[in-house]
Amino acid sequence: MPKALAGYRICDFTGQLAGAGATRHLAAFGAEVIRIEDPVNQGRWDILRGQPPYKDERRGINLGGSFNNHNVGKRGITLNLRTERGKELLTDLVRVSDVVSENFSAGVMDRLGFGYDQLRAIKQDVVYVSSSGFGKQGPYGTYKTWGPIVQAVSGLTWTSKLRDLEPAGWGYSYMDHTGGYYMCIAILAALHHRNMTGEGQWVDMSCTDAGATLTGPAVLDYTVNGRPTRRDGLPDSNHNRWPPMAPHAVYPAEGEDNWIAIACRDEPDWHALAAEVGEPWTGDQRFATLDGRIEHEAALDEALCGWTTSRDKFATAERLRAAGVPASAVQRPGERIDHDENTSAWGLWPTVRQTDMGDVRVDGVPAHLSETEWELEHGAPNLGEHNEEVYGGLLGLDADEIASLREEGVI
Ligand SMILES: CC(C)(COP(=O)(O)OP(=O)(O)OC[C@H]1O[C@@H](n2cnc3c(N)ncnc32)[C@H](O)[C@@H]1OP(=O)(O)O)[C@@H](O)C(=O)NCCC(=O)NCCS
Repeated sequence: MPKALAGYRICDFTGQLAGAGATRHLAAFGAEVIRIEDPVNQGRWDILRGQPPYKDERRGINLGGSFNNHNVGKRGITLNLRTERGKELLTDLVRVSDVVSENFSAGVMDRLGFGYDQLRAIKQDVVYVSSSGFGKQGPYGTYKTWGPIVQAVSGLTWTSKLRDLEPAGWGYSYMDHTGGYYMCIAILAALHHRNMTGEGQWVDMSCTDAGATLTGPAVLDYTVNGRPTRRDGLPDSNHNRWPPMAPHAVYPAEGEDNWIAIACRDEPDWHALAAEVGEPWTGDQRFATLDGRIEHEAALDEALCGWTTSRDKFATAERLRAAGVPASAVQRPGERIDHDENTSAWGLWPTVRQTDMGDVRVDGVPAHLSETEWELEHGAPNLGEHNEEVYGGLLGLDADEIASLREEGVI
């Protein structure tokens, strides 16, 4: 059975997570995604190419772990667009592609001679999807952005802090995932429209605004109630005060840096927890009602810590769940990835073979199609790994022509 997106070809200039994270999904669902990289700087416009984390002690342009993850399942060619022959080859490639995708800064594609008008002249119904920090057409269109800028401007940095400290942000550009997802949706929507009408189009995307979609409740709370997300007296960002529940937190467990999450939603949960704990403090009158438990939450948490701290997180979570109390071990990455049975049942981190890295695990897709399941067939391409396949097989060049392209620095 062909996969859901079999037959679509994407001419892909994307990089980093915000761009490459979009087209990786298209590849998983069967589209032929051809990643185009600059041979002169070895594709390092994408700062993740060749960068850590690494699978083992080897280092090199084809061994970057994040790059492999974000480009899994794609093909890869090199093409020097400073050369006339390079531009001709890209023209040939666009002619046989459905989509051109990129997340360069504004003006780059125009300077290369492949802005939307030129692309449309090459292929009238082309779908062109560009992503950048603020979109390419608005007043901020010329600004270059990296993840931390997008995080700050979209308001996300402000939302994360520990008690008595300044907002610190998330420590990682998680909203780049959001940008990637929106870009993926945009590509699919524009393709659907083209299929229905024969009309291509340019989708201009703003990654900052994709990030801002994550701040909806905070913006609403401020607008309607005048309450800023961070204000004096709030607990740290790991603790939620709504809906009111107590105990409701992450508690230490046996061993070094082990934790268990416990949430008592209502009175039956609390009584079930108290019965499992079975220590005198559970009968303390201060904890007899929800209002009392919330008022004396610090004392309650301290007492519960005393019980959890000498207990195995997995066994305790299982025991509490059996008693009807929501509880879960806080899992380390290895525990979550290698031992959680739901993870393997869902294929969340499949193993793929990358030509140089060998077998390596990558993010899967947390959705399963009953008839046209996704599959990640191979790791990210080595630099220029599919030059023969694309220039020879797809564009029909013979071995001598490909050899001279290489000699002339075109690929
Ligand atoms: C990420 C970013 C800041 C990097 O800035 P940069 O390294 O200066 O890169 P730019 O996108 O401005 O330009 C890319 C250059 O590579 C060149 N290039 C890329 N592929 C090429 C190829 N195959 N052949 C020849 N040149 C190529 C382009 O022509 C351009 O050069 P020019 O500026 O001389 O025209 C910028 O691309 C950007 O703002 N992107 C949008 C937001 C984004 O996605 N950020 C990353 C997510 S965290």
